[in-house]
Amino acid sequence: MTDPASKGLFGRIAPLYSLFFQHQRKSHGGVLDLAQQEIDMRGFKSVLDVGCGTGALCAAWHERGYKVTGVDQERRMVEVARRKNAGSGIEFLTGDVIHGLPFPDRSFDVVIASYVAHGLPSAQRHVMYGEMKRLARNLVIIHDFNRVRSGLLDFIEAMEGSDYLRFIEVVHDEMLTHFSSVELLEVGARATWYIGRV
Ligand SMILES: C[S@@+](CC[C@H](N)C(=O)[O-])C[C@H]1O[C@@H](n2cnc3c(N)ncnc32)[C@H](O)[C@@H]1O
Repeated sequence: MTDPASKGLFGRIAPLYSLFFQHQRKSHGGVLDLAQQEIDMRGFKSVLDVGCGTGALCAAWHERGYKVTGVDQERRMVEVARRKNAGSGIEFLTGDVIHGLPFPDRSFDVVIASYVAHGLPSAQRHVMYGEMKRLARNLVIIHDFNRVRSGLLDFIEAMEGSDYLRFIEVVHDEMLTHFSSVELLEVGARATWYIGRV
């Protein structure tokens, strides 16, 4: 399978990305507070964040009492995530979800990937959904763009060479090939949680 256009890019921009850590942590916290009102997550204890970047989403889950593991394919992102979350107890490791992650089946209550899926070609997205489903006991959540576009977003994603324009059209149907139903939760003007139940 060929690497997506963004492979390596996120390692190079990790220091820049880290500047937005606090903003992202707060924003993800707002999303989790909204989600906890809409989805019954009582009894859920553990979360795996796939493509965790600098660990801002991990921090938001951790602050709400979850045991959190973050994994990213870029070593430099993982280094930043460890530094930003030092002393938290959140576990971070380097790993590529397309090649399989080093955890047994059904290791986590929730497996989430935030703004990872749209960057991958469709064939790799399917591999990712399958691997996330293997690792989840309850929910697989794809936190990503919805169909509400903006000129700036179109431009950035075109520069990045991502599969964004196709992704927003097909994500729901793609996920339905892995899950018997897929719920949608709008979590921002241009962001949706696509939720598959295991
Ligand atoms: C746009 S960033 C999003 C980071 C973070 N989840 C957030 O919401 O800010 C995408 C991240 O996914 C990671 N990533 C992309 N493909 C991956 C893969 N196959 N396995 C693990 N991580 C991956 C990238 O290295 C990058 O850190």
